[in-house]
Amino acid sequence: MSDNTIDRFFRYLNWLFNPFHGLKTTEVYDLIGTSSLTENALYLNLGYWRDVETIDEASEELALLVAKRGGMGPDDTVLDCGYGFGDQDILWARKMKPEKIIGLNITKSQVKRARMNVADAGLEKSIDLREGSATEMPIENESIDLVVSVESAFHYRTREDFFKEAFRVLRPGGRLVTADILPTKNSDNLFRRMEQWISWNLVAGKFNIPHENYYEIPSYNDKLSKAGFVNIDIKSIRDDVYTPLHEYLSKTQTFVNKLHPLPKFLAKLSLNRPADNVYAGLDYILSYSEKP
Ligand SMILES: C[S@@+](CC[C@H](N)C(=O)[O-])C[C@H]1O[C@@H](n2cnc3c(N)ncnc32)[C@H](O)[C@@H]1O
Repeated sequence: MSDNTIDRFFRYLNWLFNPFHGLKTTEVYDLIGTSSLTENALYLNLGYWRDVETIDEASEELALLVAKRGGMGPDDTVLDCGYGFGDQDILWARKMKPEKIIGLNITKSQVKRARMNVADAGLEKSIDLREGSATEMPIENESIDLVVSVESAFHYRTREDFFKEAFRVLRPGGRLVTADILPTKNSDNLFRRMEQWISWNLVAGKFNIPHENYYEIPSYNDKLSKAGFVNIDIKSIRDDVYTPLHEYLSKTQTFVNKLHPLPKFLAKLSLNRPADNVYAGLDYILSYSEKP
């Protein structure tokens, strides 16, 4: 075994089994690397499972759901926050043809790979992928028509700062759309509440979700409104995310088999449990709002 393999093994050990692992979000994504759920692209989302068969299709479907909800079209300058490896930007540039897409991502290793993917697709003129944070956008006031964030805003420190920044950079009439992970409403049943607590804290602990971002749909609505947004519409799409994903992963095993042995062991344990327990504490929402 090379030093690199041993080092990676210990970093995984620390991340997976030490609740105080101390890894930053960027270090978690560096560790995960290109172990994406998808087989052909490098999406890092859980997918939207309506009328699709595979994780690749579901991940694209989620990206398209966000784009369509925001009415993405040829006149738009789009700001994509938390773009992963940029697959969604390539998809949007081809299908929705916005005038320009600017991306912000804090994970250097992803920025490098995403830029290569955009260059390979010959889309450098319409997609400008930058290293930068959604909470401190290096973007001029009122220069964007549509801000989108696909399965990333739960990471931001804080999501409220992101809402304020999105409001600042949007032109009047501009739109903000997020696909985001929130906690579910606490159950009255004590046992169910414990399941919810475990499921939320496992995900929040591994993926560095700050405690400030722990709130349900009504507070999400209030925080968007406090940032100045109007015509807010938030709906849960969790039934089209977690259970179908769980069933797909249990059936195909393709993703599990490409994992490092440690996460593979944990993934197999989870996949043997019912989806309703594994994801008990996790809601999944699609939000839309406008700057007046
Ligand atoms: C779960 S991945 C989703 C990636 C991509 N949207 C997709 O659907 O494949 C979350 C992404 O958010 C990025 N991220 C986390 N915190 C961020 C921040 N403050 N600003 C910008 N990007 C951030 C991570 O680097 C990662 O690319």
